[in-house]
Amino acid sequence: AGKPRAFRSSILHCLKAPGARGADGLPDGVEYFEDGVLVVENGHVVEVGPAHALLARLGDIEVVDQRGKLILPGFVDGHIHSPQVDVIASYGTQLLDWLERYTFPSEQSFARLEHARETSRFFLDELLRNGTTTAVVFATVHEHSVDALFELAQARQMRLIAGKVLMDRNAPAALTDTAASGEAETRALIERWHGRDRLSIAITPRFAITSTPAQLESAGRLAREFPDVYIQTHVAENHAEIAAVRDLFPDSRSYVDVYDRVGLLRERALYGHCVHLDAADRRRMAQTGAVAVHCPTSNLFLGSGLFDFDAAAADGMAVCVGSDVGGGTSYSMLRTLSESYKIGQLKGTSLSAFDLLHLGTLAGAKALGVADRIGRFVPGAEADFIVIDWAATPVLLRRSGIAQTIEEKLFALVMLGDDRAISACHVLGENRLSPTTAR
Ligand code: GUN
Ligand code: ZN
Repeated sequence: AGKPRAFRSSILHCLKAPGARGADGLPDGVEYFEDGVLVVENGHVVEVGPAHALLARLGDIEVVDQRGKLILPGFVDGHIHSPQVDVIASYGTQLLDWLERYTFPSEQSFARLEHARETSRFFLDELLRNGTTTAVVFATVHEHSVDALFELAQARQMRLIAGKVLMDRNAPAALTDTAASGEAETRALIERWHGRDRLSIAITPRFAITSTPAQLESAGRLAREFPDVYIQTHVAENHAEIAAVRDLFPDSRSYVDVYDRVGLLRERALYGHCVHLDAADRRRMAQTGAVAVHCPTSNLFLGSGLFDFDAAAADGMAVCVGSDVGGGTSYSMLRTLSESYKIGQLKGTSLSAFDLLHLGTLAGAKALGVADRIGRFVPGAEADFIVIDWAATPVLLRRSGIAQTIEEKLFALVMLGDDRAISACHVLGENRLSPTTAR
């Protein structure tokens, strides 16, 4: 700490959503340095630029030579469940059965604080191994599930947004709270954690099926009282789920409207899935600043449906991506983004490699309202970045080696890469993958 360091490598990031192509073939808003340096001091970005010019100016600064590799911003996972570490890859069901058969039983074991701690430790280290430096997390109904997660995230200096799940009906008794207790515990967590280091609280009604109207109203009141606290939930993931919501809330125009009526649509509100929305829902999301979190591996694994990128863009709905582990099948945002690409293919939208990079980094930062701090290398930003090793696997090495442009190389990385391609994961400048700092 204190002394600046220059990380020398190829460097790629999005300064904004990729726009029209320039003469160099790069979209407007995408910045690439074949031989670049990222200058970091006290955990923050000082500047980024071409190696020769910057190193000449900076004199005898310490250089970390990573030439031949690629530096990207750390990934932002917009939707994931910490208590589903042991649920991932459970066979053969769709959403509502999957919740009852696998997820609710597993979440009950978080009643034991020691289990919550051990699982949260595995969870956070797995995120870092995959190059995810910021995540938006559903814990369990237990207040201490958030404490356990945040104590460990704080030790790793990670940026984490999490909430105690609110559930006061249609779940096992051991996993339910009440509107009053859920509100009181969320309030206590806000006081204890919100804004401390890089940690923030999300008001977290699981979904409309497991909250009474009274609990949703309580969540809406909290959202108004604490405008900088996040909101996260699930919406319009699966047809049986949507039918159940229609039965429970016959007066609402749509599933999105259930949340809208109680004031849960606003900026800093992240809605997982958004697979089966209509144009009015998407426009209302856009109008209020709520964000859709696309969860491709989960939507395929649980057979939920195919997210419509074109419709989201046409209606102005903001989108980022999430792994949704354990409904999702990988912690890797590279794998997650490759499935986003394939879903786009099935829906007639071919997302570019740069669109995919943007979805996994800056789009998440924007969804969280922290694009000045993470997701791109602007001066003063927090130095969360990853280092890609092209030689991680024989196939990646061979395919990226014959690629002619950074776009082709990046696309190969997204299609072929996973945790093996992440050779370092820097959080506030420090590599958290080295064995000495991993605890
Ligand atoms: N809807 C309500 N709870 C969940 C969950 O845990 N995972 C997914 N994918 N969808 C949900
Ligand atoms: Zn989820």
